[in-house]
Amino acid sequence: MHDLFGEAAEQWCAIENRIRSVLSHFGYKEIRTPVLEKVEVFSDTVGEDTDIVEKQMYTLLDQGAEKLALRPEGTASFMRAIIENRLHESAALQRYYYYLPMFRHERPQKGRLRQFYQFGAELINDASAEADAEIISLLHQIYQELEVVEYEVRINSVGCEECRPRFREELKQFLRPKLSLLCEQCQKRFERSVMRVLDCKKESCQAVLKGAPLITQFLCAQCEAHHHDLKKRLTQIQIRYLEDPHIVRGLDYYCRTAFEFTSELLGAQSALGAGGRYDGLSRRFGAKPFPAVGFALGMERLVMVLTEKGKLPSERKTPFYYFAALGPNAIDLLYPIALSLKKKGIWVEMNYDKSKSLKALLKQADRSGSSFTVLVGDDEIKESNAVLKNMNTSAQEILNLGDLEAALFKKGSPIAP
Ligand code: HAM
Repeated sequence: MHDLFGEAAEQWCAIENRIRSVLSHFGYKEIRTPVLEKVEVFSDTVGEDTDIVEKQMYTLLDQGAEKLALRPEGTASFMRAIIENRLHESAALQRYYYYLPMFRHERPQKGRLRQFYQFGAELINDASAEADAEIISLLHQIYQELEVVEYEVRINSVGCEECRPRFREELKQFLRPKLSLLCEQCQKRFERSVMRVLDCKKESCQAVLKGAPLITQFLCAQCEAHHHDLKKRLTQIQIRYLEDPHIVRGLDYYCRTAFEFTSELLGAQSALGAGGRYDGLSRRFGAKPFPAVGFALGMERLVMVLTEKGKLPSERKTPFYYFAALGPNAIDLLYPIALSLKKKGIWVEMNYDKSKSLKALLKQADRSGSSFTVLVGDDEIKESNAVLKNMNTSAQEILNLGDLEAALFKKGSPIAP
């Protein structure tokens, strides 16, 4: 878990602003859900046998009574919120996004944190392949906007409740004679949720899987048509993709489209962002089924890639004025002017330390990165003057103390007459 401050916090803020801007151009509206949920929100939906629920959830007892979990991912919380607030009932297509911290008790690694931030986008009440293509193109556009191009779009169809049972059976038959070669965890997976074996990152398990049947060979006619339409749309809007039949995703709720954006710049944790369709999830909350599709992107991984490329947006903000007030009388005089200008939207920094020397004040002014420094001491007060120094050119100007605020406002405000 990281602290974020200084220049890094400013860079994050700049990235966040750009992402929010793309999301709003695509018509996505923000939704915020609580950081704590009842544990069932995840165990009944993401899946009891998934790594996230089985090993990675931070849980706690609420006053010793109810079991709560720190949100490990956004989609299940989103769905809970939609259903609880009956937002799905209008039946119209709706678009939402969230930007929230997630918590997973994972083994820390490069690009894998225990508290990390996700931007997620979810589109509900539309089952078409166009909705899936929109979600993929939105994620693509976010990376393009930030000039990240070093990734591959990998897509797959994981079928539906109709086509998956036959595939599971075939996969089991294929794996049964080789069971002892699988890792301990995959041997358990074999019984409980065999498709998850496909997701195992261990080389020994991947070797066993060579030649295994592929889900795409078992798709029912509707899933096949949906997948075909998605590919057609992606081609039409010029998004290059790879078909990767091994993508099953580490969460239980997906059906049909599953996708990942992977980047070699990330090393072992190669997923920049990922998502898919989850039409059946609403039913697990006891609601009538309605279609949904979405993605989540990891902010830390995006920042890693941008850092590697030297493309972190820098929008360093600095004060417009630094008020170098030399002694108590100057502080008395400048204090209300600083506040008044700040209220009018001009960033002013000033010192409150009445014993600071002129040299120390000028050093502080320099360090603040301000555009102008306003210097006032007892001598200036006697002369009814203030010195205004342009910090870029070092040019100095004498201003009259009588109308100092008006003069400073005029210089600092783009809308001042
Ligand atoms: P996910 O694949 O678990 O999907 O996570 C999405 C993204 O979050 C990953 O691609 C990665 O960039 C980032 N991420 C995940 N775990 C970590 C971690 N420990 N440290 C840093 N970054 C991480 C979901 O969470 C689904 N809810 C996505 C979704 C939305 N599906 C439909 N709608």
